[in-house]
Amino acid sequence: MFRSPAVPRVRKRSRPAESAVPGRQEVKFEDVRLYLVERKMGSSRRSFLTQLARSKGFIVDDTLSDVVTHVVSEDSQASSLWTWLKGRALKNLPAMHVLDISWFTDSMKEGRPVAVETRHLIQDALPKMTPPTPVARISQYACQRRTTTENNNKIFTDAFEVLAETYEFNEIEGPCLAFRRAASVLKSLPWAVRCLGATEDLPCLGEHSKAVMEEILQHGQSFEVEKILSDERYQTLKLFTSVFGVGPKTAEKWYRRGMRSFSDVLTEPDVRLNRMQQTGFLHYGDISRAVSKPEARALGNIIDEAVHAITSDAIVALTGGFRRGKEFGHDVDFIVSTPQEGKEEGLLTAVIGRLKHQGIVLYCDYQASTFDISKLPSHRFEAMDHFAKCFLILRLEDSQVEGGLSRAEGDRRSWRAVRVDLVSPPMDRYAFTLLGWTGSRQFERDLRRYARMERRMLLDNHALYDKTKKEFLAATTEKDIFAHLGLEYIEPWQRNA
Ligand code: CTP
Ligand code: MN
Ligand code: MN
Repeated sequence: MFRSPAVPRVRKRSRPAESAVPGRQEVKFEDVRLYLVERKMGSSRRSFLTQLARSKGFIVDDTLSDVVTHVVSEDSQASSLWTWLKGRALKNLPAMHVLDISWFTDSMKEGRPVAVETRHLIQDALPKMTPPTPVARISQYACQRRTTTENNNKIFTDAFEVLAETYEFNEIEGPCLAFRRAASVLKSLPWAVRCLGATEDLPCLGEHSKAVMEEILQHGQSFEVEKILSDERYQTLKLFTSVFGVGPKTAEKWYRRGMRSFSDVLTEPDVRLNRMQQTGFLHYGDISRAVSKPEARALGNIIDEAVHAITSDAIVALTGGFRRGKEFGHDVDFIVSTPQEGKEEGLLTAVIGRLKHQGIVLYCDYQASTFDISKLPSHRFEAMDHFAKCFLILRLEDSQVEGGLSRAEGDRRSWRAVRVDLVSPPMDRYAFTLLGWTGSRQFERDLRRYARMERRMLLDNHALYDKTKKEFLAATTEKDIFAHLGLEYIEPWQRNA
């Protein structure tokens, strides 16, 4: 390999490691952070090169971390170097320059970091653009994909969500669903889409979705999305529907009557707010702020304590987004039940009574059970389930939360309002309820669609029905349901579709 005379190979032992401890040298190139790979280079040569670079104003890190921008190696065996690098658990590896020593010698000669050229690169045998799994294997059904909370394609999925929302506001269902499906596919990818070619074999991406992606890839944003975001109607409907109890219909009505802001709504004499909306406005700041994991845990303790004070053999299970491992949620969802048949509804009302007695119920919308096993199976999809449930707003004290409440800067209140959902199915419906309430919404939609289209089965939060055999399929765990459907089991934290 060519070596510049500016970087002489020093003889072993001629420079003990201690001598490499840098003095205070002026940093000239703040945006560049080098790491020299010791393998093949040897420790004494590495120390020498480190000192040399530092004396010329370069930052050289002793350890390889995500802040490093340039990795320099004398290892000509690209594959072993890349195997080693990939084993370092680096998030930022794709963004790092992995360079041959020639880049280093050139830079030392020039006394500045030279531009990275192709000849400097130590190429990974597998090009970066290649998705790690063959794309052909990605299913059109979210229930056959594993989707964690890590979204590598947020720039696209955020844009799709805006588009889906605007179609939802206009009650155009087809394109709305299409954008939600497209977003869901991109969320499942363990890699970021960097060119449109990479989407070729992905399911659920139509012409429109791809056109939006192309704009984002080329210009960093989609003009169609930007136009929607600056649209007054969209902004107003978005604002109004962010209030607890205000759906698209009410928001539209207010918009049509010329209202544009909360104060417009609150000062309009003809507007009658229902109890839910009144509470929504009253606690707007708290409820629109995300609930953190420690807050969810604190609420779990409160519900747990209340339930067990009533029946010792009762069960409380965390469900919803927090069961899927999300760090934040818009509420906290729990299933409350008891093995004592027919006692689950009474348990729920007793729990609510106890919470009220504690003075922590700010709002409670209780819905009694309308569950009737003889009415199964339900042919209505996305229909609400019939179990006893309640939508609550509870008062959570700062002292109850490990590490304290997550508060806005300067907020000194000792409590906050939090949305909590409780559902109380009979114990033999527990697995279906748990699966249904764990979500995500898109995962549930696709579970039902898959059951119907691929298995001739009907699934909802109550039961699974086989239309071919004309019978219900029993399940005590979620795994049983996946097995009945002939699906590989997907863990809750892989259901963030
Ligand atoms: N769900 C349901 N029936 C209801 C209410 C909710 O089946 N009456 C389901 C939803 O389909 C969803 C899950 O319960 O899959 C959780 O709902 P929700 O709390 O709205 O969403 P999360 O996924 O928990 O998201 P977030 O963290 O924002 O609360
Ligand atoms: Mn939730
Ligand atoms: Mn909920």
